[in-house]
This record gives sequence, structure tokens and C-alpha cells, in this order.
Amino acid sequence: MTDKPSPHIAQKAPHAVEVEAGKKYFWCACGHSKNQPFCDGSHKGTGFAPNAFTAEKTDTVYLCGCKHTANAPYCDGTHTKL
Ligand code: FES
Ligand code: FES
Repeated sequence: MTDKPSPHIAQKAPHAVEVEAGKKYFWCACGHSKNQPFCDGSHKGTGFAPNAFTAEKTDTVYLCGCKHTANAPYCDGTHTKL
């Protein structure tokens, strides 16, 4: 088994974003999107794929910008240790 490549650190802080209940979002897992924190297709060839999630309620959520969270797509504080 080969090790998964490490994602690119897009930024060492979460993105506070407004999400809408019932809407589907694609969080960038590779860190290469120019449209952070969302996927723009730049993951091609990196071995990463976006993390799709549907917002349960309209709210502000904190999506991981460093891409090293253990609770994707949400920030879990891991960025403070990078
Ligand atoms: Fe990063 Fe798609 S651009 S997962
Ligand atoms: Fe990635 Fe906080 S921004 S864990």
C-alpha cells in the first residue's frame, strides 16, 4: 500500500462560510483550488477528490483551510500544529 500524498496547505486557518440548508457543497481536499475552500477541479492528478456535503441548516460553518483536519470538511484545530 502506498502512502497517500499530503494535501497542500492552502492556508493555516479555517474559512468561515455561510451555507444554505439543503444545498450541496464540494470542499477542496487537495488544497490546490483557486476557489478555496471549495473544489474548482484542480485536484486532477493529485489523487485527491473533493469532500461533498449537504448543509443541514443555514448557518456559518468553519471549513478547514489547511486540509489536514481529521474531521473534514470542518476545522478541528489541527492547523495550529502545522
Ligand atoms: Fe482540491 Fe478539487 S480542487 S479537491
Ligand atoms: Fe485545517 Fe483548522 S484550518 S484544521
